[in-house]
Amino acid sequence: MPQSPHPDTRKKATKPSPLPPPLKHVGIIMDGNGRWAKERGLPRIEGHRAGTRNIRPVVEAFARRGIPYLTLFAFSTENWSRPDWEIKGLMQVLGEAIDRETEEFHRHGVRLCHLGHLDKLAPALRDKVRQALELTKNNTGLSLSIAFNYGGRAEILDALRDIIRDHIPPEAVDEALISRYLYTSGQPDPDFIIRTGGDLRLSNFLLWQSAYSEIYCTPTYWPDFNEEEIERALENYRRRERRFGGRPSE
Ligand code: IPE
Ligand code: IPE
Ligand code: MG
Repeated sequence: MPQSPHPDTRKKATKPSPLPPPLKHVGIIMDGNGRWAKERGLPRIEGHRAGTRNIRPVVEAFARRGIPYLTLFAFSTENWSRPDWEIKGLMQVLGEAIDRETEEFHRHGVRLCHLGHLDKLAPALRDKVRQALELTKNNTGLSLSIAFNYGGRAEILDALRDIIRDHIPPEAVDEALISRYLYTSGQPDPDFIIRTGGDLRLSNFLLWQSAYSEIYCTPTYWPDFNEEEIERALENYRRRERRFGGRPSE
């Protein structure tokens, strides 16, 4: 066999490139609606309206890529501290979005889930949400969780209360059991969390589940987060090396 003149170069060239990490669950912190509206001289509510109109194309884009779980952060437990008029507008926009999108999601086999508490919502809106969950509960396509009136700390607190209520002995409480008591029970932890709107924080999103999530933040406001932005985010994810506390690969 002839000797390679540059053995080192040859070795590098034949080294297989690492496989992209698997991607089952994407979480999105949909931020920046207010600033999107402000830049256009529109009321904040128009930003929220444009934001909810962006949900369907984004869901379709992830469904086309075969991602089985998508979680969207729409309203946090802390967002109740906003002025009444904005909260009212957000509730109205949520109702409009359910009316407009549910049938279409159902046709595409999307299973809708809700993370958080529905009790603070007006009864008519609560019923709308429940009907949408009921209609799509047996669908086997993409599982779409909407975190609305959701807080990561409230979720952990609820889990602890339920564990105590169920008289689980302390020695039986482990990480798997806590995961089963969370709102996300049965779902894989998010592999990838995207935040739009430029801030670099989780703002109480999936605190327990995000222990080893890869995080990506873009300055793009949520209503402008489009196909091209999705591809850019996924391209960034594909280059990540997930170590889960292990050694870096050679
Ligand atoms: C995200 O947009 C939607 C909610 C938090 C309800 P914002 O309303 O937070 O928009 P910005 O961050 O003020 O631009
Ligand atoms: C995070 O956005 C919550 C949602 C996108 C629903 P916020 O606008 O509420 O976050 P902070 O207040 O800037 O951390
Ligand atoms: Mg915000």
